[in-house]
Parts: sequence; C-alpha cells; structure tokens
Amino acid sequence: MSAIQRRPLFGGNWKMHKVTADAEAYCAKLPGLVGESSAEIVIFPPAPLLRSVSAALRGSSIAVGGQDIHPDSAGAFTGDVSAVQLVDAGCRWALCGHSERRRDHGETDELIAGKGLAAVASGLSALICIGESAAEREAGRAFEVLERQLAGALAGRPEPFALAYEPVWAIGTGKTATPETAQETHEFIRDALSDLIGQAAAASKRIVYGGSVNPENAASLIAKRDIDGFLVGGASLDPDQFSAIIRSCGS
Ligand code: PGA
Repeated sequence: MSAIQRRPLFGGNWKMHKVTADAEAYCAKLPGLVGESSAEIVIFPPAPLLRSVSAALRGSSIAVGGQDIHPDSAGAFTGDVSAVQLVDAGCRWALCGHSERRRDHGETDELIAGKGLAAVASGLSALICIGESAAEREAGRAFEVLERQLAGALAGRPEPFALAYEPVWAIGTGKTATPETAQETHEFIRDALSDLIGQAAAASKRIVYGGSVNPENAASLIAKRDIDGFLVGGASLDPDQFSAIIRSCGS
C-alpha cells in the first residue's frame, strides 16, 4: 500500500459542445460551485472557445486544456492546432489520444507519443488517454491492449503527464465500469507504468477514470486506491453535475 498522496484530478471534456454564450455562463458559475477545492480541475473546451474560457476562468483555480494537438509547433496542417497555440490561448493541459480521436482520425500510438512530447515541450501537461474496446475486453485482451497503448504513448518519456483510463465501451454509453473492474485495471496500468518509468514515479502519477461518470457513481469509484480522479464527458457539460462529481469525491 503506497503512502503517496496524489492530488485528485478532474477533467471536463466538452467535446464538440457549446458556443461562447454557453461557455461564459458556465464559467461564471463553476468556480463558485467548486469553491476552495483541493483538487486540480481542468476544462477541455473545443478549440474556438479556448480563449474565452481561459479569460472567463482567469483568477480562479480552474485550468484550461486543449482536446487535441498536432505534434509539430507550426506548419501546413490544415485544421490542426499546435501546443504553442494552446499555450497562447491560455491552456495548461492537452488531451492526447482520446478514443474518439483514435477512432475518427486514425490516431496511432506513435502519433499520440508525438503529441505528448509536443505538449510537454511547450510547457503543457499531457493527459494521455488509453482504453480498450468492448470486443477487446470480451476477448480477454484488455490488459494486452492497454500495455501496448501505454508503452506506445510514453515512448518519448513525456513529463509531466497524467493518464486517463477510458474503456471505449463505457464512454457515452451509461455503462460505467464497476469500481472493482476499474480498480483492477488501474492497478494493472500502474504496474505497467512502473515497468516503464520506475516504481516511485509510477506511484506518484495520477490515473483518472473516464466513461459515464456521474454524481451518483463517482464516490464509489474514487474510493478505490488507484483511481485518482475522472475525465468526464457528458456530465461535465452542466456545471451543477460536474461540481457535484467533484464534491462527492470530498475534493
Ligand atoms: P462520458 O465521456 O463521460 O460522456 O462517457 C468521457 C470521455 O470521453 O472523456
């Protein structure tokens, strides 16, 4: 049993939701709802809203992150956003390798490794996402897939980073992993991480869970030893729900 205290991390992944007026109303409300939270809280708005969300949250303890980045700092990459541009827009974090990016944009472990390195080279923290599909879990291959994704994404040894374990079958489906399944998987990930970066470093890393987290299931998940917070999609769109998740975890 580790004595290391890991500061809880809560990410709100807005995906392709909201326009400026919604975002500003949200940001006017969230800091008051979370109060003096001891947790690290990060909102991941879509790229066009980054600047207004950063401005609206300035002076609060809530940070902002980008949902994706290109591995290069500039160039002829239509539609992409660089880490340098995220920093310029007020970001402190970047999501790398979300399963919707892997699925819809063919992102490979190698590409995701490049994104993680680009993030930290610009002074951002990388929140690296891994997770198996339903078919992979049913075939008994979940751990093998996670180990491959982890080793691939961390090949360049980015630092600082945190991990998000998001089983694809639990994202947006209402099917949350049970606390036992999530803990068993987080423990496996921490052991695999330990093989890659050493036991002490692995023990200090946040591994957050994502996949249909809501105010009702958050407390029983975070009670588990290796679950250090959440990456929340749907329930993060409503500041009352997102703050209720954070508060239900005692943060
Ligand atoms: P969900 O999404 O909470 O809506 O399942 C989580 C995520 O994709 O980060």
